[in-house]
Amino acid sequence: MCDECCGCFGTYRRFALGFCIGVFILAAIAVIVVLLLGYGGARRLRPDVDDASLARFEVAAATSPATTVVSYNLTLAITVRNPNWAMGATLRSLEADYLFDGQRFDRVAAVPRSSSSSSQGYDLPARKAAVFRLVSGDVGAYAPALGRAGVKEYRREKREGAFDIEVGLSGEVRYHLHRTWCRLEAKCPLKLQIATSDAGAVMFQRTTCDVLRSSQRGC
Ligand SMILES: *[C@@H]1O[C@H](CO)[C@@H](O)[C@H](O)[C@H]1NC(C)=O
Repeated sequence: MCDECCGCFGTYRRFALGFCIGVFILAAIAVIVVLLLGYGGARRLRPDVDDASLARFEVAAATSPATTVVSYNLTLAITVRNPNWAMGATLRSLEADYLFDGQRFDRVAAVPRSSSSSSQGYDLPARKAAVFRLVSGDVGAYAPALGRAGVKEYRREKREGAFDIEVGLSGEVRYHLHRTWCRLEAKCPLKLQIATSDAGAVMFQRTTCDVLRSSQRGC
């Protein structure tokens, strides 16, 4: 029974040693499961438009040069939530495209894409949210893509008193302990009325953005 190797162990000691090894293995498995749950599959960031105010919006046909021009003033508060309970994320860039009638008329950077590789981007810890306030406007900006169809749609929506403006978000995110920079694409369809000087007259309903599925591996 007692060979060279375990001659010094009594039955109880051997039992205790076996028990300790068993507990250690279970603990190791538990740690691996927790790490896999926490860091294995990243849940995608969740953007919402919390507030939006349209002070001015005009789409018109210009004659020389013959094109379509847009004048607008739009203020947005975009919240980006990190739903992961353990995994932080880094946003390397985040841009908002403003579209009317399916055509882009402006693009605004929430997190500017930095040219220097030393810049770390915007850090979003686990379970935290970041709010980006975008204030933008333009006067008579050329928007040839809108064309006659855009002007027609503008007149129709103006009669109805509300404009369908879509915010298209695109960015690059890396979840911590992951190597890939994943593309983040979301669409936020907004219905906006012109804000009058009568403060608080236009209530904005918080809008959840549709996050598009990524076909990238590991994203
Ligand atoms: C609207 O946007 C234009 C162009 O960016 C700017 O000059 C103007 O000050 C803005 N108006 C308001 C009320 O913010």
